[in-house]
Amino acid sequence: MSHDTNRREFLQQSTETATLFAAATALGGVQVFAQVKPDKVRLGIIGCGGIMTTHVKGLVDRKDAASIAWLCDVDPAQTDKMNAHITREFQAAAPKRSGKYEDLIADKDVDAVIIATPHHWHAPIALAAMAAGKDVYIEKPISHVYNEGPLIIAAAKKYGRVVQQGSQMRNSPVTDKAGKLLKSGIIGQVKVARAWTAETRSVAKPKPDGTPPAGVDYDRWLGPAPKRPFNPYRFHATWRMFADYGNGEIGDDGIHDLDMAAWGLGIDTMPKQITARGGRMLLDGHASEYPDNMNVTYEYPDGRLLIYENYPFTAYGLHGFDNGNVFYGTDGYMIFSRRGAFSVFQGPKGTPGPTEGKELRGKTGYAEHMAEFLNAVRKRTPTKASADVAHRSCALVHLGEIAFRTRGRVNFDPKTEKFIDCDEANLLLTKKYREPYGLPDVS
Ligand SMILES: NC(=O)c1ccc[n+]([C@@H]2O[C@H](COP(=O)([O-])OP(=O)(O)OC[C@H]3O[C@@H](n4cnc5c(N)ncnc54)[C@H](O)[C@@H]3O)[C@@H](O)[C@H]2O)c1
Repeated sequence: MSHDTNRREFLQQSTETATLFAAATALGGVQVFAQVKPDKVRLGIIGCGGIMTTHVKGLVDRKDAASIAWLCDVDPAQTDKMNAHITREFQAAAPKRSGKYEDLIADKDVDAVIIATPHHWHAPIALAAMAAGKDVYIEKPISHVYNEGPLIIAAAKKYGRVVQQGSQMRNSPVTDKAGKLLKSGIIGQVKVARAWTAETRSVAKPKPDGTPPAGVDYDRWLGPAPKRPFNPYRFHATWRMFADYGNGEIGDDGIHDLDMAAWGLGIDTMPKQITARGGRMLLDGHASEYPDNMNVTYEYPDGRLLIYENYPFTAYGLHGFDNGNVFYGTDGYMIFSRRGAFSVFQGPKGTPGPTEGKELRGKTGYAEHMAEFLNAVRKRTPTKASADVAHRSCALVHLGEIAFRTRGRVNFDPKTEKFIDCDEANLLLTKKYREPYGLPDVS
């Protein structure tokens, strides 16, 4: 009997057994049905660019828990590179390949997909994959516009799917250690969280339009975004500077620090007021459609504040970190960085408390985060960056961007998830999708 036949029978038996015990666990409103999968998770990879190379490194360490069944990219050169990497690292048969994600999600032998495309493709692919019964690891941010978040939450619930956003800091060792201290009340109640990103970016001058590289399905790369001629800047890696495909720095690196700020504050709602400003200071002539000094303040219904600052023209971040947070509590504060460090200061004099900075430096959590996802797929458990958690962090990106693009200060109703008395802001909660690449109807 082949391994596959064995596996299928085993799966069938365990599915039948598990159905008897079918139970829905709920965490943060997202339901995951308990139907334990006993074997390796068979993955389909959608988007074979920069971040997937990092993920593959993490997956190599989890060879016992995952196999890669499919590779998908609209650019065959990207699939070629990833294929060479995977066959070398996994020393396994080459995965199947396609330029169309529909082929992967139609394959009943795929358990889960990793979606690592530019942001404008995340929700259409994730919704279609969940409707086809696949669990989804969606790179951050799960949504390109605000209104895609609730759709992903609803689909996860409806189809009983595991969702993990690529916010690996949720599973990093430094987060774990700092989280235990915050939970113990070491700095009292956290009332204000600050988040910053000051990773230096150089000026990218606009380039003339051209023709896509041979073999690229550029219409599909554009997908739901408006039809435009090919431009080397609106393509691999640099698409993040353009609003049709990415979310600027706030949705690129900023979301990691915003997510950690939301985690430190322990928020479980949306903000009620958002104030944003920004402009061009030093990156004049940059092709980016985003400011280089964005500053956003979010006020929550109970008065807690989250303050975000972005300075991509300087390497001088705060407290010695290019990316980081400060959590201000009623009894002290904690400086925290996703670079793997924290320091606690307590009491009225700011007496130094526990600190972490050497052992965990550089431990970003990629491998642990992927391991949590694989485990969740097998055990049918929720993840730390599940759809609802992810939506609250993505919301900070979208609400900040909308406040910046409209009145600078906007009021938001966390219950209805709409802006109050600001039609132009409400229009930006969604976008137009170019057919035939619109959102699948999963209602
Ligand atoms: N978690 C992290 O720390 C981290 C770091 C970097 C990037 N990211 C995220 O990963 C995602 C990808 O970023 P990247 O830097 O790898 O971008 P990239 O441009 O290097 O790669 C994206 C790939 O997706 C492909 N693609 C585009 N549309 C597709 C479609 N419809 N079907 C299949 N393939 C398609 C592109 O051809 C390209 O190869 C983004 O969401 C980004 O924010 C996360």
